[in-house]
Amino acid sequence: MTYELCMKSFQSCKATNVYCGLVIMIKLCIVVCAIFASTWAERRFIDPFRTVFDPPTEFQPLTTDDVKTAWIDMPIDHFDPQNRDTYRMRYMYNDEFFGGNGSPVFILVGGEWDIVPGWLRAGNMYLIAQENRGHQIYTEHRYYGESLPYQNLTTENLRFLNVDQALADLAYFIEDLKQTPRFANSKIVLYGGSYAANMVLWFKQRYPHLVVGGVASSGPIKGQVDFTGYLEVVHSAFSSEGGSGCISTIRQGITETIAAMRTAAGRQSLEKAYRLCSPLKYDSPFDLGVFSGLISWSFSTSVQQARPGTLIAICNNFANNVYGTTPMEQIGGYIASTRNLPADDCWDIDYESYVERYRTRNDNSRAWYYQTCTEYGYYQTAPRVGTVFDGLVWLSVPFYVDVCKQAYDPKFDEAFVSDAVERVNLVFGALQPDVNSTINIHGAIDPWHALGVHDRDLKEGSPTITVPRASHCFDMQGWRVSDTIAMTNAQQFARRTVAQWLAD
Ligand SMILES: *[C@@H]1O[C@H](CO)[C@@H](O)[C@H](O)[C@H]1NC(C)=O
Ligand SMILES: *[C@@H]1O[C@H](CO)[C@@H](O)[C@H](O)[C@H]1NC(C)=O
Repeated sequence: MTYELCMKSFQSCKATNVYCGLVIMIKLCIVVCAIFASTWAERRFIDPFRTVFDPPTEFQPLTTDDVKTAWIDMPIDHFDPQNRDTYRMRYMYNDEFFGGNGSPVFILVGGEWDIVPGWLRAGNMYLIAQENRGHQIYTEHRYYGESLPYQNLTTENLRFLNVDQALADLAYFIEDLKQTPRFANSKIVLYGGSYAANMVLWFKQRYPHLVVGGVASSGPIKGQVDFTGYLEVVHSAFSSEGGSGCISTIRQGITETIAAMRTAAGRQSLEKAYRLCSPLKYDSPFDLGVFSGLISWSFSTSVQQARPGTLIAICNNFANNVYGTTPMEQIGGYIASTRNLPADDCWDIDYESYVERYRTRNDNSRAWYYQTCTEYGYYQTAPRVGTVFDGLVWLSVPFYVDVCKQAYDPKFDEAFVSDAVERVNLVFGALQPDVNSTINIHGAIDPWHALGVHDRDLKEGSPTITVPRASHCFDMQGWRVSDTIAMTNAQQFARRTVAQWLAD
């Protein structure tokens, strides 16, 4: 979150381009303030699901002259002709490669995050645009970033937040684009990662007449309430990258932690090892759920962001006792290190304040948790197959669903969430989408691949590629020195296939 704040302030500086030196000084102040503010307000909050990916690293925030921001008036409800209300949807575009009449348009589909210009300045879609003389666009998803139908995200106001409306936004946007003489003859290709990869596949399925194809990176296209598979992959990622020594240290650390909860002396050493601000409420399963999340969400964040070498480095640190002495201290130290907990600070583990945050803040996190309650589930529960995370039984469906009830509506109970997920699976076909001309890319160590189609093509002409050692949305980035040949091949395959769609 802090990172996004910094990004935004640099961009507005560049956009206005006035008194930039002075403005940069103010921006620096804002960044510093943001960091300070975050140390007491924002930083301790751990958001378990929402994907926030940083744009490609080769992109420099201060050279984004060629990316412009624009807005389009969008119906709030595409499915009720009597409702004429509109909101302003934000998008960004980069025209540097456009070859004129008949040249293609590439749309990067926004998901549960703020759009930022860096994604139109580097990465695989940027290369595709360069190679095919394409115009690039990045659309923001309704209810995220600055594309807000309502300022106050009450549960009532969230009722127009669903993927059906978001796909219709995209259709309306593309129809509007095609009215512009400049793009009237342009073929359109979508690219999207994570939840936005679902959107690419579902858009191509529902609106096949509007786009010639789509690249879907790491799409978990099947909704699931009790998503044990997620932490199973986190386990196997550490196992395949770091080996059995690493797994056994993590297992000892977590086992020791759970055992420590049973005695007074154990509890004291646990609170010290994990640097907790105050004792845990050991008789509250939901407080233990948040504490379990501190552990599991830290390991899963490392895995989701991993490039080849990342997990090996963490495992080497475990082997060399870099994070602490006992296995439990090692886990606590790893979490503090990977989440940048300042030396004089501590973790405040408290279910009430965890829920309060979702209940009261009008931000991306509240919007996305709402979508998990009403569309996808995706609850990362404790596995039951012998992984290092099996013992964290407080990561349960009742724990995750209680947030739905408390933050949005008491009627959002397990039956409600389960029906909601079933609806989405029925409407979009879950693991059997009927979709032509798409590329479906997964990383074998990405925990989300467990809810995607990763072991077969979607159909002829809609190939699937699952890449060993690769993680979440790896292909969207630019080339990195740590990439394996298989990763680079997958990116090139996507570029070649898109070029073929355009040639047909
Ligand atoms: C949003 O609406 C709720 C319910 O009407 C109200 O209690 C709350 O103060 C509002 N929040 C903001 C930030 O306006
Ligand atoms: C996919 O393409 C095939 C062959 O061109 C066509 O027969 C079929 O109707 C298409 N399916 C969809 C869902 O568009």
